Amino acid sequence: MCGIIGYVGRRSCPSILLEGLRRLEYRGYDSAGICILNQAGLEIRKRVGRIDAGLGRLCTERPVDGSTGVAHTRWATHGPPSDENSHPHLDQSGRIAVVHNGVIENYQKLRDRLAAGGHQFHSETDTEVLAHLIGVHYDIICRQPSADGLHPLATAVMAALREVIGTYGIGVVCRDHPGVIVGARRGSPLIVGVGEHENFLASDASAIVAHTQQAVYLNDYDVITLTAEDFKIANLGSDTAQAQIQQIEFSADAAEKGAFPHYMLKEIFEQPRTIENALRGRIDREEASAKFGGLNMSLAELRAIDKVVIVACGTSWHAGLVGEYLFEEFAHLPTEVEYASEFRYRNAPLDKHTLALAITQSGETADTLAGLRESRRRGHKVLALCNVVGSTIAREADGGIYLHAGPEIGVASTKAFTAQVTALVLLALLMGRIRMLSAQRGSQILRALEALPGQVESILAKNEAIRQLALKYSKAEDFFFLGRQYNFPVALEGALKLKEISYIHAEGYPAAEMKHGPIAMIDERTPSVFVIPQDGLYEKTLANVAEIQARKGPIIAIATEGDQEIAKKVEDVIRIPPTLECLVPLLAVVPLQLLAYHIAVARGCDVDKPRNLAKSVTVE
Ligand code: G6P
Repeated sequence: MCGIIGYVGRRSCPSILLEGLRRLEYRGYDSAGICILNQAGLEIRKRVGRIDAGLGRLCTERPVDGSTGVAHTRWATHGPPSDENSHPHLDQSGRIAVVHNGVIENYQKLRDRLAAGGHQFHSETDTEVLAHLIGVHYDIICRQPSADGLHPLATAVMAALREVIGTYGIGVVCRDHPGVIVGARRGSPLIVGVGEHENFLASDASAIVAHTQQAVYLNDYDVITLTAEDFKIANLGSDTAQAQIQQIEFSADAAEKGAFPHYMLKEIFEQPRTIENALRGRIDREEASAKFGGLNMSLAELRAIDKVVIVACGTSWHAGLVGEYLFEEFAHLPTEVEYASEFRYRNAPLDKHTLALAITQSGETADTLAGLRESRRRGHKVLALCNVVGSTIAREADGGIYLHAGPEIGVASTKAFTAQVTALVLLALLMGRIRMLSAQRGSQILRALEALPGQVESILAKNEAIRQLALKYSKAEDFFFLGRQYNFPVALEGALKLKEISYIHAEGYPAAEMKHGPIAMIDERTPSVFVIPQDGLYEKTLANVAEIQARKGPIIAIATEGDQEIAKKVEDVIRIPPTLECLVPLLAVVPLQLLAYHIAVARGCDVDKPRNLAKSVTVE
């Protein structure tokens, strides 16, 4: 939630910051603001609404210039979206400006204390309290400079953060120190972009990759002092802080929409490549198995695992559900899939042979991170399936698998899901092959996996037909998505995609469970999307189709190419190529993504930035 960016260098920075904010807008889009440090002091522009319509327009009406600044795009937590609650926030003296991503949990207590001392607040935010607190410590340091060798602003920030409970990624500038930005993180991502005579601070690499490919991923409790020529890291918890410069893996183009009208559509169309990338280098033909470079677990350790617990949120949780079927089928491993927000507070009786698997696109989801930490505290090995390189979860896990899907900007996750499921198939295959799965079956799975990119291409070629179907159904106010076994998670994901971006009420159900309640809602205005490949349960699912039809519910079927039967029974059919039952989710989800996308476009919704949502949920 919330995106921050900072620049210090020789160039005029407002346009750099605005462009960076546009790339971070997926993290929050309730309001945006910018603070430029120049001869005039701190110049702030901030406005509620989307960046271009709000802050962008304001900066055109009232231009500002300078070569040091911080900026913020907000997903509201404390205080509703408004100009006043937009960041940056100033301290009491107006000398210090702060942008913040995260939540200061003890802000009310701090605010009361500061208010009792005469501080006046102009917003309802926790961030303004932090700005005031930094100001208080800065005043003390100005009176009694400390001998810690740090920049006084950094010392003040550190002193303030020692009083804070909560999460933060912050950027701080001070009128007294032109050409200096102080940043700090705990629980919210923050990276430094290292340039030539300029440096950047950002919530993620996509905001700065147009300017530099060199990044330092900050650790929790790091406090960084940036100037145009240098950066210095201190750490609140230890005397030593490490700065390792890493190469950003993707190019600026990868974070662009290109010729596509929306990121979501671009990312749906990238899936043949992202599946290829998730497979690349991981196929072990000789062993009819999979191999990974970063699991950091020996085969003996993997063999000793007797249970898997998958912890995730949102779409990643749906990928985890597919994983449950995979681990059970391939490796006979009992598997539980937990909402991270529930798991972290449960006292689940898991033994030391349990493998915890955190699945996350961003690697920053607060609940998933907390679940990972809880698992590690209990002594479980934790592996992460993660897309964002250098993210907190990727770094805190014992090992893991990177998805290599490239930046996913559309708030509704698409290519991350297929990359996650692909990686799960590989991991389950490895777990199966070191147990009881035959080489013959292993080879069959590998062959089917390698056919997937071409098969996804063939589904994408039906985009226009799916768009037409979307137009036909775009006025519906309720939808059901139904599937069984491997396709039950696909049904859940299809429903989530639709409700996220079109605001149509949609529910995913196991097809046969429908009759235990939800079928009461079926009428001629309520379409059901059945994922009904020709698998072992085909006939049984057909019976569920009949149950809906008997109640006059229109049906769209996602069915296997060549299935003649289904077309006679339902209103509309979208065909997918035949594959193994365990891989159907990777094909069936694609038309559901496209259907949701086109319905949302037809309804005039902002598909890349759906209302109330944020891509990275870094608060509890
Ligand atoms: C948010 C996003 C979803 C995503 C979920 C989990 O809710 O809007 O698209 O699936 O977070 O995110 P993660 O980065 O952990 O996969």
